Amino acid sequence: MSPADAVPGVPSPAARPRDAEQRPGPASPTPKISVRGLRKRFGTKQVLDGVDLDVMPGTSMVVIGGSGTGKSVLIKSILGLVTPDEGTIEIDGRDILRLPRGEREATRARIGMLFQNGALFDSLPVWENVAFALLAHTRGRPRITRAAARARAADILAQVGLSPSVGDLSPAELSGGMQKRVGLARAIAAQPDILFFDEPTTGLDPIMGAVIDGLIIDCVKRLGSTAVAITHDMASATRIGDRAAMLFGGRIIWEGAARDLLASGNPMVEQFTHGRRDGPIQMELRR
Ligand SMILES: Nc1ncnc2c1ncn2[C@@H]1O[C@H](COP(=O)(O)OP(=O)(O)O)[C@@H](O)[C@H]1O
Ligand SMILES: [Mg+2]
Repeated sequence: MSPADAVPGVPSPAARPRDAEQRPGPASPTPKISVRGLRKRFGTKQVLDGVDLDVMPGTSMVVIGGSGTGKSVLIKSILGLVTPDEGTIEIDGRDILRLPRGEREATRARIGMLFQNGALFDSLPVWENVAFALLAHTRGRPRITRAAARARAADILAQVGLSPSVGDLSPAELSGGMQKRVGLARAIAAQPDILFFDEPTTGLDPIMGAVIDGLIIDCVKRLGSTAVAITHDMASATRIGDRAAMLFGGRIIWEGAARDLLASGNPMVEQFTHGRRDGPIQMELRR
């Protein structure tokens, strides 16, 4: 699928809601995260084709979009796991792609991430997974002792509803829901001021999904973090998000209040959020 094919019906850049002219003026608070003109291509596939997105401090943004539209690539670009081809990514008003390496890494160390597949280290017990960032070595020395890290891991496990004994298990011994809780515990361990969640409820039953969403909301509130969650679970999107944005054809084609997702007035968003086969989005079916 070439990028040109991918965007029938996508408004021209001039009609997009998030024009450069609409950037917050000096009176508005600086966005926690501000992405402009982000482009990333893999081979011939233009995955991100000019993404513009602002996330205001202390708010939660949900990013929706079909499989393979580049949602994970977008947050991996902010995290530094993917290098974009073009564009800017500002955190607290500073373009992290152009910061000196040390400052860039320090900024990214303030981001906690719950990966799509949990991404726990199977060779480490749960408590070491949770305390991983705390045990990370700075200038050759761990930041805290192992005993202190272990006690801290028990506290953090309690915050996601797990008993300290779970800390001694291996990730492979846990159910899917428990693995998500441990992934969440690891994401919040260093008390980050930005949290990313990549499809936190995918693969869980609806009740466990609601439990995980509840924990996510509690953790984000407790830390006062700014959050970005990727999901295609509409129940989850409206629970977690204050704002929502839809990625399609490499761009953000709609942004609004998360509570409006089911009645946004945008035909592409409504086709997606109501799961309709017929509508303006047809490329995925023709492949
Ligand atoms: N490291 C990579 N190398 C090549 N292609 C990639 C890489 N990462 C992602 N892609 C491609 O980019 C597209 C978007 O991927 P992704 O962001 O994971 O989608 P999703 O919206 O489902 O999270 C997919 O076609 C995927 O195959
Ligand atoms: Mg993904």
